Amino acid sequence: MRVRILQGDITARSVDAVVNAANSSLLGGGGVDGAIHRAAGPELLAACRELRATSLPNGLPVGAAAATPGFMLPSRRVIHTVGPNRHAGQTNRALLVSCFSESLRVADSLRAGSIAFPAVGGGVYGWHGRQVAEAAFDAVNGFTASHPDSTVELVEFVLFSPEMEETFKAVFEQPR
Ligand code: APR
Repeated sequence: MRVRILQGDITARSVDAVVNAANSSLLGGGGVDGAIHRAAGPELLAACRELRATSLPNGLPVGAAAATPGFMLPSRRVIHTVGPNRHAGQTNRALLVSCFSESLRVADSLRAGSIAFPAVGGGVYGWHGRQVAEAAFDAVNGFTASHPDSTVELVEFVLFSPEMEETFKAVFEQPR
């Protein structure tokens, strides 16, 4: 599995699945959520509403992941995940690790070859960049060990600022 760390807009990535930093309602928001819904078009919200009407009547739990088509995005699919909201007292790091590992598991179940992550939790939900990068690092390592034959060959981390890009590179290139 290759890991690529870059600065950019995740909605422009042409991979098999882009990960959305959603909230449990799955009905949109700001940040990455807003950008992905804008780029994907209104069908994405309709698909999320369908999930709420069927398999996810109570919304997507924190740390879980669920896929929809990508519609007008260059990526075929969107994998929605919900980070723990530090401002709401959700400070359990294991849930942040789970966002990355569950998204990888869903990508593998869809036989995706490539996936792009934003810094889930690193914006509105209040996690520091290094905490997000270390959670992502732990999730990738755990997934690689538990899924040696996964179809997922490329994992991108698409970061919105040079500082976040540097933080991810520091964690992935000189792991603690
Ligand atoms: N591409 C890549 N990264 C982006 C983009 C983008 N287009 N837009 C924002 N980011 C970055 C932010 O700078 C931050 O580093 O993604 C990271 C995650 O920030 P948020 O989008 O705020 O996600 P999160 O912290 O998980 O909060 C989720 O915010 O938008 C709402 O509905 C969402 O309630 C949910 C909460």
